Amino acid sequence: ARTAAVIPAAGRGVRLGPGAPKALRALGGTPMLIHAIRAMAASRAVSLVVVVAPPEGAAEVRTLLDAYALPDRTDFVVVPGGETRQESVKLGLDALPPGFDIVLVHDAARPLVPVDTVDAVVAAVREGAPAVVPALPLADTVKQVEPAAPGEPEPVVATPDRSLLRAVQTPQGFDRATLVHAHETVTDDVTDDASMVEQLGRTVVTVPGHEEAFKVTRPLDLVLAEAVLARRRL
Ligand code: C5P
Repeated sequence: ARTAAVIPAAGRGVRLGPGAPKALRALGGTPMLIHAIRAMAASRAVSLVVVVAPPEGAAEVRTLLDAYALPDRTDFVVVPGGETRQESVKLGLDALPPGFDIVLVHDAARPLVPVDTVDAVVAAVREGAPAVVPALPLADTVKQVEPAAPGEPEPVVATPDRSLLRAVQTPQGFDRATLVHAHETVTDDVTDDASMVEQLGRTVVTVPGHEEAFKVTRPLDLVLAEAVLARRRL
């Protein structure tokens, strides 16, 4: 089965502060999106990458792809994204040609995921899991709170057992038919693709995640990402 990667990159990145769409901001002089594309194309398994661009930025992203060296054995397609991450992923799936039976969904905001993590996700789908997520144990204890009025303290209602919690990353890997069915069926707001598959009652399994697959969300994450890149270049 051939494997394609869909990269949602249509977010504005408000939490990162003012400026260009997050995926187009530079890390070590290269746009975050180019790092994310290279991370997917680095896997021998991935032969197609579908980039979901900001709705008005598809031409700009296409130009960007042409400006950077990318592996010849991989095909690249750019499609405009939607209002939400979920819509953007759906638009990416709609652009997949037949023959790609395994689909990875990878956030442009996780530019530094190592190829071993990508390969581990693909391997687990090939072994028969309908959905696979890279996951890491949590360093912090997590509290569930009750919503409160702005400025009011939020009461804590529960402390889930940390040993059973995982922070999940991308790429998340799927049997294509399962993911397409999930996107056609589940209408709830979700923050990742695997949770849609969970809602269908299908099994989602984890593989070990990687610290360098962290999501660049806030300004401090940019500092960390620059440091990781600098260490790689030593
Ligand atoms: O907002 P969040 O950090 O969860 O976004 C994760 C990924 O989803 C980012 O790569 C972002 O560009 C993408 N996204 C998208 N379309 C949207 C919103 C987010 O492709 N409308």
